[in-house]
Amino acid sequence: MEHNIEIKKIETSKVTSLDFDNIPLGKTFTDHMFICDYEDGAWVNPRVEPLELIPTHPAAMALHYGQAIFEGMKATIDAEGIPMLFRPEKNAARLNLSADRMGMPHFPEDLFVEGLKKLVALEKAWIPPMEGSALYLRPFMYADEPFIGMRAATHYKFIIIASPSSPLYTKRIKLYAETKYIRAVEGGTGEAKAAGNYAAAIRPTELAKEKGYDQVLWLDAKEFNYIQEVGTMNIFFKINGEFITPSLDGSILHGITRLSVIELLRSKNYKVTERPITIEEIIQASKNGTLEEAFGAGTAVGITMIQEIGYKDTSIHVSDESPVSQMVLDTLDGVRSGKMEDTLNWMLKIND
Ligand SMILES: Cc1ncc(COP(=O)(O)O)c(C=O)c1O
Repeated sequence: MEHNIEIKKIETSKVTSLDFDNIPLGKTFTDHMFICDYEDGAWVNPRVEPLELIPTHPAAMALHYGQAIFEGMKATIDAEGIPMLFRPEKNAARLNLSADRMGMPHFPEDLFVEGLKKLVALEKAWIPPMEGSALYLRPFMYADEPFIGMRAATHYKFIIIASPSSPLYTKRIKLYAETKYIRAVEGGTGEAKAAGNYAAAIRPTELAKEKGYDQVLWLDAKEFNYIQEVGTMNIFFKINGEFITPSLDGSILHGITRLSVIELLRSKNYKVTERPITIEEIIQASKNGTLEEAFGAGTAVGITMIQEIGYKDTSIHVSDESPVSQMVLDTLDGVRSGKMEDTLNWMLKIND
């Protein structure tokens, strides 16, 4: 469907004041945003306009009942200066999966991609050209209807903002396997990218950091044994030559990096298995020397090698060498920067 997206540009871009070698994480925003309103059962008035404060009624339902979902994705630029998006249709579909769980309306997937393309084309100068850096895109939807009472809102906003970013972790990270708090339980909201999931993870993450770890490794809510995922990443282990990642059981996010890593490894003839995996199995594999590699996979962090996992009173050591994980990282960065051939057809070029 053809969408009429009105574009209102700022007069002078702030991009000239950005130091691309020193981008403060998550604090810098581009000049414009894409915005669309949901009224009377339909999405109306899609537009790109200067990024500015949005007046919010104190009774806006998202503030009270948490109807708020989001996506995270990246735009990169190739050597010819053509901006590219990484599998945007997957984010569009996942937003609607989250919307279903949270009782929110679907956002048209073609308009999602069209809005991204318009915004990224306009903000092209903000895309950091260095490999591993990108323009982080944050599409989100929230209930802005002023109402006190428990029901689905009837008025929402869908917005996309953009923030230039450098690679998040450049070192190997240490995870803390959490045995008190949980992130998600069967039947809960774990596979939705819902704001509340992240709110509930903040305190446990702070506690893990106080203990000297970088992130929480979430375990299942019943036995604290099955591995789910990391703060903002899915997780992969290489044990005895085989890659294993927890299956999508309703409690973990359907990571787009996870999907892409599985496709890439399989295309290179590695065995990849999606199945439940326990922390006990990882401890045993570490002890008997078959735990060969482990990494986290997510848009914000890319591929992040895992050095160690703290669990109760023990520390599980993961091997210091990560040759296959490094190949995965190099391939994802290479394809995203246009330096490597996009053999799996991931990239959407924005030519206009
Ligand atoms: C909880 C969680 N798991 C996994 C991921 C990785 O998903 P993706 O690869 O789509 O970024 C993210 C990041 O979006 C996340 O927040």
